[in-house]
Amino acid sequence: MQHIGTGNIALIDSAQMRTRNRDVDYPFRQDSGFYYLTGFNEPDALAVFIPGREQGEYVLFCREFDEQKALWEGAHAGLEGATAHYGADEAFPIDELDEILPGLMENTGKVFYPMGENAELDHSLQGWIKQVRTKARAGVTAPGELVALELILHEMRLVKSPAELKLMRRAAEVSAAGHVKAMQAAKAGLYEYQIEAELIYHFAQNGLRSVAYPSIVASGKNACVLHYTENHSPLKNGDLLLIDAGAECDHYAADITRTFPVSGHFSAPQKQLYQLVLDAQFAAIEQIKPGASWINAHDAAVAVLTQGLVALGLLKGRVKKLIEKEKYKPFYMHRTGHWLGMDVHDVGNYKINQEWRELEAGMVLTVEPGLYIPADCKSVDEKWRGIGIRIEDDVLVTETGYEVLTHGVPKTVVEIEALMQGN
Ligand code: GLY
Ligand code: MN
Ligand code: MN
Repeated sequence: MQHIGTGNIALIDSAQMRTRNRDVDYPFRQDSGFYYLTGFNEPDALAVFIPGREQGEYVLFCREFDEQKALWEGAHAGLEGATAHYGADEAFPIDELDEILPGLMENTGKVFYPMGENAELDHSLQGWIKQVRTKARAGVTAPGELVALELILHEMRLVKSPAELKLMRRAAEVSAAGHVKAMQAAKAGLYEYQIEAELIYHFAQNGLRSVAYPSIVASGKNACVLHYTENHSPLKNGDLLLIDAGAECDHYAADITRTFPVSGHFSAPQKQLYQLVLDAQFAAIEQIKPGASWINAHDAAVAVLTQGLVALGLLKGRVKKLIEKEKYKPFYMHRTGHWLGMDVHDVGNYKINQEWRELEAGMVLTVEPGLYIPADCKSVDEKWRGIGIRIEDDVLVTETGYEVLTHGVPKTVVEIEALMQGN
């Protein structure tokens, strides 16, 4: 309300149910921004915020309670529930949106809304504003400015509250334990999807029924495909297995990657590349503290990786020049992390006035350096080819530095080999 300012109005719509196939819907997932502001987990809803409105500043449009619907489809709040349990000052049926909303927009100045995210809402908004304009001769003024709600909302979502961190810790903890189970289960002869099943089983057993994104379970050279999700190859001794998977806890994501040997033992070249990625990850994490630039972690990872690639003979030349010319890119083509929150690639700007922004306490980001040596890469010795490694943790910026939320799953060579061998 403070950010919107008196005299203005903000609105945001819920996610919609989507058909998967005949008579079957996709599982409903609320829009993150809508859930952040309302905690309301139903489709067919629209929240309106009108600072200073006497009859109530927070208006929620939603489905009316319907006994038949309750019988077939389960609980829904209805108008009474919206005010009694969700803090709305007033609730109206979503079916009456077109009649009621233009009235709420009368004599307001700016309309904040999720700009350009939903063609239907963009279109409806034009109609509502037109409707308000028809009352001009009665002395009613229509809003004169449309503003992207994201400008306010995304900055709010970027810094996590203690209540949000509690959910993120839970997502991180359950996801980390799932990775441990996956490591323990992995052995030659199983298929990648069977390891995926271990993860999902553990998440669901702990009440987290959704993954935050499709799990990547990639053995051998599949790990060099960044978004591999087929998960259908057999695990082989001698291969590494890369798992990138995270559960969602009440709309908050974890995002963890571990890479380990199917046999329980790293080969010599695997161990050398793995240690290099791990060193890069430690160096990147060490950069995280309030006031540090967002890009420091990435720069630190790139420096360690490039230096290591030269030492191991995969790159030739002077480290400084190689970094300048981005010669590491054939082996490390993504950034070292992203914001994490309700969305796995969470909202929030990375730059302010074209400068990389500074970290603040309460922000959560991933740190995920990797190396991917294409199987057909002729420029490097054969022993490196087809190796893909990523190590990813979720890191909270604290008042004094950082806290790794996903520490529950091992990542050093010694720890991983010990876990895999049941020690
Ligand atoms: N799992 C998606 C990512 O790591 O960014
Ligand atoms: Mn990530
Ligand atoms: Mn990931």
